[in-house]
Amino acid sequence: MACHGGDLEGGFGPELRTVGERMSREEIVSAIRDGIGIMPALGDRLTEEEIAAIADWIAGLSTGP
Ligand code: HEM
Repeated sequence: MACHGGDLEGGFGPELRTVGERMSREEIVSAIRDGIGIMPALGDRLTEEEIAAIADWIAGLSTGP
């Protein structure tokens, strides 16, 4: 929430409401697990199942690339 906003509207990090239009599900998974740009990797704090569930949810918020 501190980085992407309570409604994924963005903040310190970019908005994630339409990220499914510019990134594939696999790219979202690796962004969460390994980090992207200045975003820290979260792979040590989330399980693969949790990362997959978050990526499915975020990718599904828009129509996909
Ligand atoms: C489970 C939690 C998170 C998810 C699902 C997530 C997802 C993402 C995704 C998909 C991107 C790429 C967006 C794009 O390029 O359009 C991104 C970028 C970014 N995220 Fe996160 N993020 C999470 C947590 C965080 C946290 C905790 C922070 C702050 C410490 C953060 C800060 C950023 C920043 C600054 C970017 C832009 C990176 C750059 O281009 O340099 N994110 N995030």
